[in-house]
Amino acid sequence: MNLSDASTQRAAGQVQHFLSVSQFTLMELEALLELATRLKHDHLHGGNEPVLRGKTLALLFQKPSLRTRVSFEMAMRHLGGSALTLLPGEVSVGKRETVADAARVLSGYVDGIMARMSSHTQLLKLAHNATVPVINGLTDYNHPAQAFCDMFTMREEFGRLEGLKLGYVGDGNNVATSLLAACMLLGIHFYIACPAGYELSRSVIARALELRGSAATELVETTSAAQAVADADVVYTDAWISMGQEDEATERMKVFPPYQVNNSLLARAKRGARVMHCLPAHRGDEITDDVADGPQSLLFVQAHNRLHGQKAIVAHFLR
Ligand code: CP
Ligand code: NVA
Repeated sequence: MNLSDASTQRAAGQVQHFLSVSQFTLMELEALLELATRLKHDHLHGGNEPVLRGKTLALLFQKPSLRTRVSFEMAMRHLGGSALTLLPGEVSVGKRETVADAARVLSGYVDGIMARMSSHTQLLKLAHNATVPVINGLTDYNHPAQAFCDMFTMREEFGRLEGLKLGYVGDGNNVATSLLAACMLLGIHFYIACPAGYELSRSVIARALELRGSAATELVETTSAAQAVADADVVYTDAWISMGQEDEATERMKVFPPYQVNNSLLARAKRGARVMHCLPAHRGDEITDDVADGPQSLLFVQAHNRLHGQKAIVAHFLR
């Protein structure tokens, strides 16, 4: 069975899943960003229309979550629907029963499944066997809901996206994978600094380059944090040790400290550059308190914007 995102979409017939940023065209992504803008405006001016009245979304977690869980649940509630959270251990999907069986069963109960899975292959299996839309709430490979919401935050902050420069510093991980795809699609220059051995994979880079609308959109890989953030509009970082990598902690803590986002690194970015982090932050490791809580920080704006971005995703995929 080919479990690529595209074949999963095809196998599921009419069902449209949200599995990766790269599944979108530029026009689709821009329309979804516009929808998020409209839903945020409505939310702040009297409330949202109940466009998902009677609809239900299961939130299936194999890993912990604060933002993803609460923002999807509130998004459903504000749009007139409801969400049911299934925490790790409650379902033990993949252990107590197969992912495929869980997908078939859940599809008979709910109108959509938002899933945070340890393995991306397992998420694709879930989508392949579900007859309702599956929304990716993070895997070991990517985190498209996060990247989508971050593009929304950047668009709101700068009033445009094309031509901005994002300097990502740290681990070439799931968040970096989705940010890269979104940046390439939207014409944002993407500079990434990772320690040797922790870069994005060649296949992630190759796939992202295929998404570029113009060769003028830069993708630069370096081991120098200073080079990645030089003249950047946005400095972005994430955990050095992602969920599931805890047994690599000692090794990782030896190589990542030069990649800390602190005031001296931030001084190399554009004057007034914004700092982003998907959270949870490990203060004192990948980011210092003074940067996380400083005037250039967008950390809590982007966390709060998960609500509005998630609304656009559920409104689009569950209607
Ligand atoms: N950024 C993010 O996805 O946060 P949670 O892990 O708390 O959901
Ligand atoms: N890279 C982090 C993101 C958490 C939202 C992780 O996978 O743990």
